[in-house]
Formats: sequence, C-alpha cells, structure tokens
Amino acid sequence: NIYPIILSGGYGTRLWPLSRAALPKQLLPLVTEKTMLQETALRVAEWPEMQPPVLVCGDEHRFLVAEQLRQIGIKPTAILLEPEGRNTAPAVAVAANFLMARDPEALMLVLPADHMIEDVAAFHAAVGKAAEVALKSGALVTFGIEPTAAETGYGYIRRGAALQGFDGCYAVERFVEKPDAATAQSFIEDGGYSWNSGMFLFEAGRYLEELKRLAPAIAEHAASAIEGRHGDLDFCRLEEAAFASCPSDSIDYAVMERTDRAVVVPAALGWSDVGSWSALWEVQKGDENGNVLRGDVYVDGARDSLVRAESRMVALIGVDNLVVIETDDAVLVAHKDQVQQVKKVVEHLKQKG
Ligand code: GDD
Ligand code: MG
Repeated sequence: NIYPIILSGGYGTRLWPLSRAALPKQLLPLVTEKTMLQETALRVAEWPEMQPPVLVCGDEHRFLVAEQLRQIGIKPTAILLEPEGRNTAPAVAVAANFLMARDPEALMLVLPADHMIEDVAAFHAAVGKAAEVALKSGALVTFGIEPTAAETGYGYIRRGAALQGFDGCYAVERFVEKPDAATAQSFIEDGGYSWNSGMFLFEAGRYLEELKRLAPAIAEHAASAIEGRHGDLDFCRLEEAAFASCPSDSIDYAVMERTDRAVVVPAALGWSDVGSWSALWEVQKGDENGNVLRGDVYVDGARDSLVRAESRMVALIGVDNLVVIETDDAVLVAHKDQVQQVKKVVEHLKQKG
C-alpha cells in the first residue's frame, strides 16, 4: 500500500503579494483553476495501489485544506496538524509514525503540495519503479530531474551505479542540498547530477530507522507527538510540547545527505516547483506575444509578461518582461529576471511588523 504524504506547510514567500501566510502558494489556484494542493491530490487519486492521502499542515490552515479536498471529492486518510512548522524532517516523521500504527508495511510517497507535473503518465511510471525498489531493497528513493541551470535552491544528486534488477534505478553517490553558486555551477559542468525533485518514496519503517540513526532527537519527539495526539482523523492534532521539541530541519539535510540507502530514479516529468513568478510564467506558456494574463487585463504592445489582476483592472502598454501582480492591498511590479528579490519585500514587511 502506498500512502501519498502531502506536505502543505510552506509559505511561498517569493510569490508575494498573492501568496501570504494566511493563504500560501499551495492553497492558491496558480497554474490552473484548481489550487496547487488540489492538483497534487488529484494527481495521485484513483491509482489502484494508492491509498487516500495523509496531509501534514499547520493548524492555521486546517479549514482551507479540508475544504479544498472536499471540493474535489477526496476524503483523506488523515489530516495531521502541526502547532508550528518544524520543517520537513519532523513533518515526514510524524506521518511515518502515524502510518506504522495502522499499516506496518506502508510505503510513503512524500509530495510537496505546491509542485507542477506535466507528464502524469511518466510520474506514474517513475513511482512504480520507486515502489518496487523501496519494497525489495529498503531504499530511500528520490526522483531526479534533469537540471537546466545552476540553481542554488535545489538539492543535487550524483548518480552512481545502476541497480541490478531494477530498471532505471541508480545508487546515489552523493546528495548535496542547496550548494553555493560555484558548487552548483561545477555540478552542471560535471553533467552527472540531477536536481532533487523534493518527492520521496520509502517504507515508513525504513525512514524511521534512518532517522533514529541520523537525527535521533527528531525521531524521538516525533514519535511522542504522534503518541500524544488528540482530535480525530479529520483534524488530528500533534502533541504540542513534543512536536515543539523536534529540532527544525529538512529531510534533505537531516536524512538524504547522510543516508547510504538513497536511490535515484531519473525522470522527465515536466516538473516545476513554481518557486517564483518567472517560473510560473514559464510553465504557463503565454499567448502569441508571450504574455500570461489573468483577470481583467488590457495589453497594447506588451510582451513576455505575467499579469494578474485580482481586484482591479490592469493595463500594460509598450513594456516587456514585466511581472505585475495586483491584489486588494498590494501591487508588485518587477522585472521578470529579478523576481527572486521578492522575498526581500516579505522580509521588509516582517521587520516593519
Ligand atoms: N507540513 C509541513 N511542515 N510542510 C512543510 C514544512 C513544515 O514545517 N516546511 C516545508 N514544508 C513543505 C512545503 O510546503 C513544500 O511543499 C515542501 O514541504 C518542501 O519544502 P520547501 O521549503 O519548499 O523546500 P525547498 O524548496 O527549500 O527544498 C526542497 O525542494 C526542492 C525542490 O523544490 C528540497 O527537497 C530540495 O532538495 C529540492 O531540490
Ligand atoms: Mg520548495
């Protein structure tokens, strides 16, 4: 049995002003008319061996998450609520502990709630391979994406030897999370590296075993947080003090960089983590002038721009490569090549209080 574990705890600060703490990226309809979370849940719905998903999200988002799943007719296995975010290693650990109690053989397919995958058939095929190798060899499987630039916001996986008897699966020789720019550049030139997609597949028990070895404090407190949980499966609250005691760390740093059980399945999925406005412009493929427009927008001689009008009309005349995001209480105008700086606006707003 495979359980999708959907992680929905991030804030998507680079997609300000649309993505906010109260309504982050994954709960917004960014690429299609459905929200990123709904797209993620639908992508794994109705596969024969796939169980209903386990959601892990912040307590403050529980009603939105539950309502968005209800809208698409998905009844989750459980919604696990974090009193506060402790990053992904603890989030996956509580899901693993939760599953072990129900189904000790459970496989977990860890999925970020805010990614785009164009080729769902290729995704199915890759998950099938991953499930086989995870079950038969106890591997922690990653999905490798062909890199297109020396991005520093991703993990990099160096492919080792092909695994005997498992078609399309390779040992991971090295996993490097978020290298600096020079290191990322050297990985691209080397050619033997993939980006880590941020999706993982493994047995719940195997993840916990590795976590106990590599990050024992997370393993211990995550187990207590599940043991002391309250509420029902619809809103299952983790025991607050235990969960707060988990060191905050990502699965990439805490486990994947250090385990020797990692395997990579390289896959061409049409994957994007839609991490910035320019990434959204890219996945959406514009009209004949290269514009991606949403809402009440007028353009005259504008090119290669992304424009969203949420509450007022927006007009663009004779400009190109712009990102214009209009919302009720804030407007962003940025050059499309500079949108990484948007997170600085959010930092500025936090400081202002
Ligand atoms: N429930 C929960 N709780 N979810 C969380 C938390 C948390 O505390 N923190 C992050 N998440 C969710 C985010 O919403 C996102 O869907 C996913 O977990 C990954 O977290 P990010 O914070 O977006 O990670 P990243 O982008 O820096 O890096 C990861 O993804 C890259 C690909 O997009 C790593 O796995 C990289 O190696 C990878 O290349
Ligand atoms: Mg991310």
